[in-house]
Amino acid sequence: MENSRGNWGSNIGFLLAAIGSAVGLGNIWGFPYKMGKNGGFAFLIIYLILAVLVGFVIMIAEISLGRKTGKGAFGTYKELAKGFKWVGAMAVIVPLLIMTFYSVLGAYCMEYMFVNLGDLAFHTLNMSGGDLFGAMLTNPFGCIVYTFLFMALCFLIVKGGIKDGIEKFNVVGMPTLAIMLVIVIIRSVTLPGASEGLKFMFAPNFEPLKENFIGVLSVAGGQMFFSLSLAMGIMITYGSYLSKKENIVRNTGIIVLSDTIVAIMAGLAVLPAAFALGGEDAAMSGPKLLFITLQDVFASMGQIGPIFGTIFYLLVLIAAMTSAISLTEVIATMYVDRCAEKGKEPNRMKATAVICVIIFLGASVIAADGLGSNGMWVPFQNSLGVVGSFNDCWLDFVDFIAEGLLMPLGALLMSIIVGWIIGPDKVKEEVEINGTHKFAAYGFFKFCIKFFVPVAMAFILVGQVDGFLGLGIFS
Ligand code: PFF
Repeated sequence: MENSRGNWGSNIGFLLAAIGSAVGLGNIWGFPYKMGKNGGFAFLIIYLILAVLVGFVIMIAEISLGRKTGKGAFGTYKELAKGFKWVGAMAVIVPLLIMTFYSVLGAYCMEYMFVNLGDLAFHTLNMSGGDLFGAMLTNPFGCIVYTFLFMALCFLIVKGGIKDGIEKFNVVGMPTLAIMLVIVIIRSVTLPGASEGLKFMFAPNFEPLKENFIGVLSVAGGQMFFSLSLAMGIMITYGSYLSKKENIVRNTGIIVLSDTIVAIMAGLAVLPAAFALGGEDAAMSGPKLLFITLQDVFASMGQIGPIFGTIFYLLVLIAAMTSAISLTEVIATMYVDRCAEKGKEPNRMKATAVICVIIFLGASVIAADGLGSNGMWVPFQNSLGVVGSFNDCWLDFVDFIAEGLLMPLGALLMSIIVGWIIGPDKVKEEVEINGTHKFAAYGFFKFCIKFFVPVAMAFILVGQVDGFLGLGIFS
């Protein structure tokens, strides 16, 4: 639908923006550490299977439905599935929740980048990664200021709109990110001892699956749909700005493949270096891998360390920003659509400002909490025994509600709505709309969306709750 909402300037612009959304902290931080903790190669295989059978299928559905209605997540569910408007509302609330902690993590990357840059120029850094991270977390004011800067940047991009803001940033940011990632990989895999990390990633070993199959399945599944930006209304939103001429299935294949390649590349950038300079314990250090272990890895490289540190944290910052703008855009699009419904001219600038301020206020609580370092009250603290190396903190709490509950639930509901209520034929119609792109894999799509995805998502949902709450059902 060509209308005043605007459209992507080109298919490559759409692709880079969608890949930009998918490639983020989930790939560069989450994937390597989850792979490190969940059996390396075995995790990789399960991840790849789920990316094809679940991720690819859900993404085709999301992009198609968005393009079909020409509306964001909320408007799409409202229009397509009577009585399921609330699923659309969920797909707008979740990005808001995710952004409250995603922006803080982005802010940490920004701070690390400046610390490394400062060290490069003035040789000022004389602490270990652990001490640096501790000092940062216990300085709430600093964290709030960096979170503000991150959100200000996000505002400046999203206010420009789809073509002149989001597309432009991604067209420059994503190739830059790819180049920097390759530079860091070359350094990582050529360090003495790096081969242990490569073996861990690629040497076949299925033992971890025998020990805890459902556990690995649910971590890989949770990681997969977070990484592909699914169940958050993003691909519906980005699809709604896509021209009817474009090939949805091929585009989806490119997005899923690129996201997976970047996750594996991030693994190559992080795990061999961690193995080489800190041994197996470093590689398995969990969430602190990015901010503690890797900082030590860069420090141990001598004079060139801060150069790689600066490049690496800048690349993570770009990845975080291209994802953050997609999350913010979901909410902005909902506003633009509501204005159109009421026949009003949308004021994107004002709406983006309001959205960013709301996110910033929520994020300030998470920034001030410093992953539980500053003794703040946290809902259900200790009473649920939330696990994770980050203790009990606001970030864990919000992440549990968003990533642990609402996202898998949203994906489960979407597969039921598409598979059983509106029917997969609607997706086929949209894919084939102008007669030039035949949906050759339709049989595969139909089977997966009706049967495989709902069952897999139900397992992943229970597994996520189990993992977050440490109930031990699957371990
Ligand atoms: N896919 C991004 C990542 O892997 O970090 C994060 C993300 C972006 C999650 C957008 C969810 C989302 F809607």
